[in-house]
Amino acid sequence: MEGGAAALAVASGQTASAFAIFNIAQAGDNIVSSTDLYGGTWTLLSQTLKQFGIEVRFVDPADPENFRRATDAKTRAYFDETLPNPKLNGSRVKEVADIGRSLGVPLILDNTASPLIARPFEHGAAVVVYSTTKYIGGHGTAIGVAIVDGGSFDWAADADRFPLLNKPDEAYSGRTQQVSGLISVLSGWARAALRFAIPLAPRADAAIWMA
Ligand SMILES: Cc1ncc(COP(=O)(O)O)c(C=O)c1O
Repeated sequence: MEGGAAALAVASGQTASAFAIFNIAQAGDNIVSSTDLYGGTWTLLSQTLKQFGIEVRFVDPADPENFRRATDAKTRAYFDETLPNPKLNGSRVKEVADIGRSLGVPLILDNTASPLIARPFEHGAAVVVYSTTKYIGGHGTAIGVAIVDGGSFDWAADADRFPLLNKPDEAYSGRTQQVSGLISVLSGWARAALRFAIPLAPRADAAIWMA
């Protein structure tokens, strides 16, 4: 839908914003966010993230330079909505994204109100989140969400800004989380024959025979 590189589906729109932020920010870090947000996101950013030690610096999006002024070495992302709910006053996505990219900060954009009609990756957004509960689902009968990575932000360029993605993690035996995951999958795949072929082959044969 977006032309992104990868997407993750989780349970609700609010989970999308939370996951996108927790993936790159931890206690002591900060996020710079537009003040024009959906109420639930406002609560998430102004109240919940505080409980995890993540500071959110709210800025007036009318002047994109406000994002630059609020940025420091601990800034992990900018957060904005393409068509903010409820104001629906279009955001200056490209200017905010460009400022972020010049400082090595990704723009996480909530595009819930404008799927298909706005293509945020073409304007520099790094990650796009959707509550699929709304326009994508169309009738509000199922809650859902998508987090999409545009694939154009270099998450490895500044390891100090994104230690969660680039630095060894004790919880993963001193590897980065990504490498650890990859090693785990590859070593598991190498032994797949032991898991499938040996225990299951006789049963598969039996199933074929019985059929
Ligand atoms: C722009 C925006 N983002 C996120 C959400 C939260 O989505 P959900 O209800 O799926 O948690 C909403 C809900 O109205 C919304 O309008």
